[in-house]
Amino acid sequence: MNPKNEGGAAATTLRLTAARPEDVAHAAALLRAGELVAMPTETVYGLAANALDPHAVASIFTAKRRPPDNPLIVHIAAPEDIAPLVAAYPPAAQKLAAAFWPGPLTVILPKSALVPDLVSAGLPTVALRIPAHPAARALLRAAGVPLAAPSANRSGSPSPTTAAHVLADLDGRLSAILDGGECSVGVESTVVTLAEGPPCLLRPGGIPPEALRAVLGELAVSPAVTHALQAGETAQSPGMKYKHYAPQAELTLLTGSREAFVTYLKAHACAEDGVLCFDEDFDGLWRRFSYGSVDDPAAQAQQLFARLRELDAQGLTRVFCHTPRQEGVGLAVYNRLLRAAGFRELAVDEAAPAPQKT
Ligand code: TXA
Ligand code: MG
Repeated sequence: MNPKNEGGAAATTLRLTAARPEDVAHAAALLRAGELVAMPTETVYGLAANALDPHAVASIFTAKRRPPDNPLIVHIAAPEDIAPLVAAYPPAAQKLAAAFWPGPLTVILPKSALVPDLVSAGLPTVALRIPAHPAARALLRAAGVPLAAPSANRSGSPSPTTAAHVLADLDGRLSAILDGGECSVGVESTVVTLAEGPPCLLRPGGIPPEALRAVLGELAVSPAVTHALQAGETAQSPGMKYKHYAPQAELTLLTGSREAFVTYLKAHACAEDGVLCFDEDFDGLWRRFSYGSVDDPAAQAQQLFARLRELDAQGLTRVFCHTPRQEGVGLAVYNRLLRAAGFRELAVDEAAPAPQKT
């Protein structure tokens, strides 16, 4: 069955396989012809178009119903591709590129005139990334142009970490998908701006802040990483101001030990509630969705978006989530969950008992 386009015409998304060189070549030809292709990256799938073709870039915004003032990341194949796209390439950016590219890091720099205003949503800056996924790199090399690509979800859904997730949201709204299996990192890239002032983390992601600090020395962290923007506050990155994925169920983060988490659930949860928890939390009771081991933030990151999609598929009305530690890539996991929960977080550890009066 073919889904319908906005205009009502039936459209089919061609399924291509990343392991087949002729399929990569086919995807690259489609991109050069101005078409949209979903590509695997190590973080999440991207909805790619030729970044230098404003018409192709415009179709990204239409396909995923993205607000036009939210700029896109430009993916490139190699460090040689940076210079034509930027107005400045400061030493800090060169250090980050040497340390983390190819990989899950996006760096924001002043843009050159070559970058269409549609890509940067009118900002004077451009977000750049060299992805590590072999299929993304092969596709970039074969296409021979930089690729603008946001996450390949419908705006407001969890980012896609499998080809099936992309098709669930966008089938019929893009020309082809290059299936490269499951994404290994599972959360989006870390976004750092070097466009003005000292380096600042705008979005936590696959590269943890500790690793960036080891290379940069100083790194500010935008308050928007762990706090809601206040009314009237300007977003440093337009993506911060949009409501991100919010499940149909009311999601609450419960922060505390395993014992405190289970005690809270016994007192407050009912059999119909969903519980998003760690592998070691418990079996039985409630409807349990495990997102990895408590000590393994990389596993949590890899599984998080798939679990969130499963929660939505169950039609739950209330979900309690055991809050991850904010260490390493765990900060990105926490940031995505906090936004999914609309910043609803409860501390459940018992207060230390009051000292006995003697
Ligand atoms: O891992 C990723 O980053 C994935 C894969 C496909 O590369 N892409 C991705 O793109 O997550 P997207 O569009 O879903 O998120 C990009 C974020 C948005 O929050 C956007 O506002 C911000 O980066 N951004 C892009 N260009 C910017 C700029 N010039 N200044 C500030 N923020 C920018
Ligand atoms: Mg996105």
